[in-house]
Amino acid sequence: MLLSGGGSNLQAIVDCIARGELRARVVRVLSDNPDAFGLQRARRCGIPAFTVAVADYPDRASWESALAAKVDEAGADLIVLAGFMRVLGAGFVNRYPRKILNIHPSLLPRHKGLNTHRRALEAGDARHGATVHFVTAEVDGGPVIVQGIVAVEPGDTVESLRKKVQQVEHRIYSEAIALVARGKC
Ligand code: GRF
Repeated sequence: MLLSGGGSNLQAIVDCIARGELRARVVRVLSDNPDAFGLQRARRCGIPAFTVAVADYPDRASWESALAAKVDEAGADLIVLAGFMRVLGAGFVNRYPRKILNIHPSLLPRHKGLNTHRRALEAGDARHGATVHFVTAEVDGGPVIVQGIVAVEPGDTVESLRKKVQQVEHRIYSEAIALVARGKC
C-alpha cells in the first residue's frame, strides 16, 4: 500500500481484514512522506513501513525506480494507493497493468484532481462521493471498479462533505479490493 498522509483508508482496510470481511493481507506500506501518520498506523499493526522520499533521489525517474524496487520486493498481488499524493509516471504505471488501485474523493469522471469537495459544492452537485479505480497513465482516468455516493444537502460544507465521503471510502475500498481479488473486475 502506498500513502502520503493520515492513513485512515489503510486503517479501514486493516480493520476489515481483522473482522474477517476481506481475505487479504497488507504486506508493506510505503510513503513518499516521512511524517505520514499512516506509517505509524502501519507499524502499530505490525506491517513493515518504509519511506521513499523524492528528496532522497537525484530525479523523479530514479525515485520511481526505487519505489518500484520496494514494491517488487514486497511481492504483493495488488498495489493499493490510499491517499498517495504523487502522480506516478507512465513508466511506473505501465509496469503493473490492472494491478494498481486508487481511491479518489469524487464521482469520477466528475472532479478529477484536487479540491473535489469544494468543486462539488461550487458546481451545485446534488450527489458526490468516492471512486475506486484502476490506475493508468491518465491521472484519475482509469477504469472504475466501485463508486460510493453521498447526497449533498443544504448546509453541507467542504468539511462535512469530506467526513461523509471518507465514511464511504472506508467501506468501498475493501469492497473493490475483494472484487479485484476474486477476479470480478
Ligand atoms: C482520501 O480522501 C482519498 O480519497 C484521497 O486521499 C485521502 C486519503 O485519506 N486520495 P487517508 O490518508 O486514507 O486518511
